Amino acid sequence: MAFRLSLLHVSAAALLVLFSLLLSHGESVVTVETCATHDHHNTLAELFPNNATGVLNATLAIIPIPLETARRLIPPQYGILEHAYRALVPSFPEGMYPVMVQAAHDHDVQLRAYGITIDDFSRVGFEFPFLDLAGDGYSSFRWAPAQLISATNDIALEGSRAYGTLVSPAKYEPLCDAYRHMANGHTYFRGASVNSPDFVELEMARIPHTTLSPYPLELFKNITNQPTFANATSCDNMIRLFNTTMSVGDHAPVYVSGRVKARAYPFEGAEEEWTDIYGVQVATPFIENNYLECRSMRGYSGTGGPGDSYVHELNANNEL
Ligand SMILES: *[C@@H]1O[C@H](CO)[C@@H](O)[C@H](O)[C@H]1NC(C)=O
Ligand SMILES: *[C@@H]1O[C@H](CO)[C@@H](O)[C@H](O)[C@H]1NC(C)=O
Ligand SMILES: *[C@@H]1O[C@H](CO)[C@@H](O)[C@H](O)[C@H]1NC(C)=O
Ligand SMILES: *[C@@H]1O[C@H](CO)[C@@H](O)[C@H](O)[C@H]1NC(C)=O
Ligand SMILES: *[C@@H]1O[C@H](CO)[C@@H](O)[C@H](O)[C@H]1NC(C)=O
Repeated sequence: MAFRLSLLHVSAAALLVLFSLLLSHGESVVTVETCATHDHHNTLAELFPNNATGVLNATLAIIPIPLETARRLIPPQYGILEHAYRALVPSFPEGMYPVMVQAAHDHDVQLRAYGITIDDFSRVGFEFPFLDLAGDGYSSFRWAPAQLISATNDIALEGSRAYGTLVSPAKYEPLCDAYRHMANGHTYFRGASVNSPDFVELEMARIPHTTLSPYPLELFKNITNQPTFANATSCDNMIRLFNTTMSVGDHAPVYVSGRVKARAYPFEGAEEEWTDIYGVQVATPFIENNYLECRSMRGYSGTGGPGDSYVHELNANNEL
């Protein structure tokens, strides 16, 4: 998620140069974890050099849980805007609430104008959208209380903790991609804490027709553009663009269904498994505005507001 300007960074490119120098001198070297990702490069860094930008290649899936359970897990001061998710998915089962699991690989994060880049990392967690943090009965906020984040990325770990997030350093499979293609054609992703039994694992299969998905892409655009908070000291405004070359044509969102197995906050206690879960796999570039005053985002309407109009301007002026 977030990162701090004060921290210096040794880029992956520099490590590669070092590695090849050592090789060319014929010395024996300890194995360097070389990890080539399939993710596309960050197309927004050039357009927004003064902002934090990056790429999120993700599986986004909805786990319907009883509203009573949601009410017990979500801090009582945040109302649940049921009409807001019903406006997007009128057929959402009665008495249920949509938790989103987000399993993602963060790639090519930059603050271009300052020459800052941060190493790629993976992260996974449960997110609780459509919450009335501002108390206006209208603006949707998303509570993301806990994340498993690659143990190797201190900047990402600390950046997320600064929101009051319960952060667990974790190891991932695959190491540097959003998911791995299995022999049976399914995709696999697993993040496991290195210091607790917590983990989240997804196995998904492509569903052939978008008509089989109970959820429109709009739902995922809407949720992923809601301001995020953990302990509500500050909010994260991540603008995810679904309408660039990274998410259309050959790279159009893939509708998937499968199972999610996890032991992670705020679900208590034992391991749980949810089957027949539906979602999408999509890579989007993003612009991130960190540590904002939550109430300043009252009335913010996500992709319905600035998200798509940025894209229209960008598409008109630039070849992304
Ligand atoms: C997202 O990740 C998958 C799995 O590594 C890869 O096949 C795909 O090309 C990536 N998509 C983009 C647009 O980066
Ligand atoms: C870029 O950052 C500036 C300063 O923080 C902010 O005002 C602006 O809204 C950001 N741009 C976008 C597209 O979010
Ligand atoms: C929220 O978390 C931040 C970062 O750990 C901390 O500084 C702040 O005091 C916390 N606020 C509350 C209300 O717990
Ligand atoms: C997200 O959904 C809410 C409620 O359904 C709506 O008010 C808001 O405008 C939506 N944002 C965007 C596009 O679609
Ligand atoms: C994506 O951008 C193109 C070009 O501006 C526009 O024609 C199209 O309607 C946009 N699609 C969406 C879903 O916003």
